[in-house]
Amino acid sequence: AETGYELWLRYHKIQNTELLNGYLGQIKSFNVVGSSATHDVIRNELSAGLSGLLGQTFEPSTSSKASLLAGLSDEPTIAQYLSESELTQLGKEGYLVKAISQKESSRFLITAKDPVGLLYGTFHFLKLLQTNQNLASINILENPKVDIRILNHWDNLDRTSERGYAGFSIWNWHKLPDYLDQRYIDYARANASIGLNATVLTNVNANALVLTPAYLEKVKALADLFRPYGIKVYLTARFSAPIEIGGLDTADPLNSDVTNWWEEKVKEIYEHIPDFGGFLVKANSEGQPGPQNYGRSHAEGANMMADALKPFGGVVMWRAFVYSSEEPDDRAKQAYSEFNPLDGSFRPNVLVQVKNGAIDFQPREPFHPLFGAMPKTPVMMEFQITQEYLGQATQLVYLAPMWKECLDADTYVNGQGSTVSKVVDGSLHDYSITGIAGVANTGTDINWTGHPFAQANWYAFGRLAWNPDQTAQQIAEDWIRMTFNNHPKTIAALSDMMMNSWEASVNYMTPLGLHHLMGTGHHYGPAPWVSNLSRADWTPVYYHKADAFGVGFDRSENGSNAVSQYAPEVAKIFNSKDEIPEKFLLWFHHVGWDFEMNSGRTLWNELAFRYQDGVNTVRKMQEQWQSVQPKIDDERFKSVQMLLTIQEKEAVWWKDASLSYFQTFSKRPIPDKVEPPK
Ligand code: GCU
Repeated sequence: AETGYELWLRYHKIQNTELLNGYLGQIKSFNVVGSSATHDVIRNELSAGLSGLLGQTFEPSTSSKASLLAGLSDEPTIAQYLSESELTQLGKEGYLVKAISQKESSRFLITAKDPVGLLYGTFHFLKLLQTNQNLASINILENPKVDIRILNHWDNLDRTSERGYAGFSIWNWHKLPDYLDQRYIDYARANASIGLNATVLTNVNANALVLTPAYLEKVKALADLFRPYGIKVYLTARFSAPIEIGGLDTADPLNSDVTNWWEEKVKEIYEHIPDFGGFLVKANSEGQPGPQNYGRSHAEGANMMADALKPFGGVVMWRAFVYSSEEPDDRAKQAYSEFNPLDGSFRPNVLVQVKNGAIDFQPREPFHPLFGAMPKTPVMMEFQITQEYLGQATQLVYLAPMWKECLDADTYVNGQGSTVSKVVDGSLHDYSITGIAGVANTGTDINWTGHPFAQANWYAFGRLAWNPDQTAQQIAEDWIRMTFNNHPKTIAALSDMMMNSWEASVNYMTPLGLHHLMGTGHHYGPAPWVSNLSRADWTPVYYHKADAFGVGFDRSENGSNAVSQYAPEVAKIFNSKDEIPEKFLLWFHHVGWDFEMNSGRTLWNELAFRYQDGVNTVRKMQEQWQSVQPKIDDERFKSVQMLLTIQEKEAVWWKDASLSYFQTFSKRPIPDKVEPPK
C-alpha cells in the first residue's frame, strides 16, 4: 500500500512505456567517479532511483564510457567536458547537470565542486525522470541563493513536539546514540533532495539538558549520520543554561564566569561535532530567560555566544520574536522597536531571525517591518511549515503562495524593487551571511507530516529556501508529479486545489486582515469571543476590536501607528483605508460596517461573502479530489477524502461562528446569498 512514507522520493516504475523506452535507450549505466561518504550516498541513490524508475537493476559501473557520469569538477574524467565559464559559475554548493553529445547518442553529466553539490545534482537528475522531462538537451546550472537553509524542530527531549501535529518527535533520544533509526537517514535524504543543509534539533523553548555530555553524545550520532548529506546540526541554547546545568548563580552575559562557561561548553560541543553549526536562541520572549534579566541588551547576549562560537566558525541565530504583556504598545510594533536600534551592534556571526509577519504565523500577515530595516545585520527569515494557525494536520493548505506573497513584497527601503527576498538572499544590503528557517512539520506519523498534502509544505520550503524566486505553481507541479503521478488530469486538479487552498483558508478563518481569532492556547478553530485572558495580548478581542461602529485594529497614524515602521512608500499605502490592498484592511484599520468595498458591497456583506467563498472553495476542492479518484491509490485517496470532509465541516464552523459573533456588533442580517452587486 502507498503509505506516503517515501515522500516525494518515490521511485516507482515510469508508467508511460514510450517515455520509459526512451530513457532506457539513453541511460544504460552510471558511474560515480571518486570516493567519499557522500559519493557512497550518491551511488545508493542512483541505484535505487534508476532501478525503480526504469524497472531494471542498475549497479554502479566504473567505466568512463557510462551513459551517466557523476563526479567532482576536478576529476580528469569529468573536467574534460567542462568549460571555463561553467567552472566559474559553479558555486560551493552548486551543480551542473547536462547532456554531453557524442556521435549519435547523448550521455549525461552531473558535476559540482563539492560532494554535496554533486548530491544535489543527483537529486535534480532523478527529479527530471520522476517528472517525465525530456533529457535530450538538458543543461542546468544551479546555485543556492541563501547560505543557511534550515529546519527548526520545536521538539522536546521527552519527544513531544510543540505545535507538532504528526505524532511525536522523530528524534528517539532514549535509544540514541546506539540505535540509529532508518528514519534519520530518510530524513536526511529528503532534506538533501530539496537543498536543505541544516537543522536545529530542539525546541526554541529550550531545555538546557541537551547541552549536557550525555545528550551531546546523542547529538553527535545524528550529526555523523547527517554529514554525508550536507546537513549541519544546530541546537537551541537556553540562555540560563550556565545556572541550570553549569552551577553558576547568574547567566549575565558580561560576567566572566558566564562567558568562560559558554566558551568551555562550545569547545566541548566542537570536540563532539567538528562542523557544529551554532545556536538558535529565543531570549526574553514569552517568559524565556535572556540578557534583559540582567539589564543587558539582545546584542550583548547574542555577542557573548557569538564570541564563543567564532573560533570554530559557528553562528548565532537570535530570534526577534519578542513582545511583552507589560508593554502597553501594540504587539505588532515591539520587535521592530527593540531590534531596529540595535542594527550595527551585533557581531558578524550573528543573524537576527524574524518571523514573516509581526504577530505570529497568522493565516495572512503583511511582511514584518524588520525586513529591510537592519541593513548592517543579517536578517534571516523564519517561516512556519507546521500549520499551527492553519488547520494543523487536518486541513489541506499549501503554504508556498503565502511565503511567496511575503518574499515578493516590496519593502521600498532602497527604492522600488527592494523585495523581502532581496533582503533575505543578502543582495539588498550585501549581507555576508544569509539564512532562511522553517519550523518543521515532521513527526513519527507513517507519512511524516500527518496530512499527505502537508508534505508539499516541507518540499516547497526547501525549494524556496534554495531559490526564493521560483513560483509556487511550478513547485506544486513538481511535487504532484513526484508524489502522485504525471497524469495531466492529476496535475491540473491537484495544482488547482493547492493553489487555491491558502486563500480559501484565509477566507473561512480570518478574511480581510483579521487575525489571532483562534481558540486560545491550542490555536485550532474559531474563538473570536474570548475576552477574559490574563494576558490581553493573547486575547482575540484585542485583535479584532469589533464594536457597534465596525471591526479591525487601527494601526494607522491615528491608531498605534505601526504603519510608521515601514518605508514611507509602504506606510502611505497601508495608512490609507482607500489605497490599502483589502487583504490587509482590518490589520491596519478599524472600519465601519457600511464601508464600501471594491466589490461595491458593504464591509459587513463582504465579510459574509468571503467566509462563504472560503467554504465554497473547500467544496470545490472536494469535487476536484473526487474527480481524480481513478488516478490515485486507494489509501492516500481515502485519507485525503476524509480530511477534506473535516476541512469542509470546519470551514462552515469558522464561518458560522465568526459571522454569528460579529453580528452581535454589526446588528445586520447575514445575507443568505452574497452575490456581487450587478
Ligand atoms: C508561537 C507558538 C509558541 C512558540 C512561539 C515562538 O507563539 O504558539 O508555541 O513557542 O510562537 O515562536 O517562540
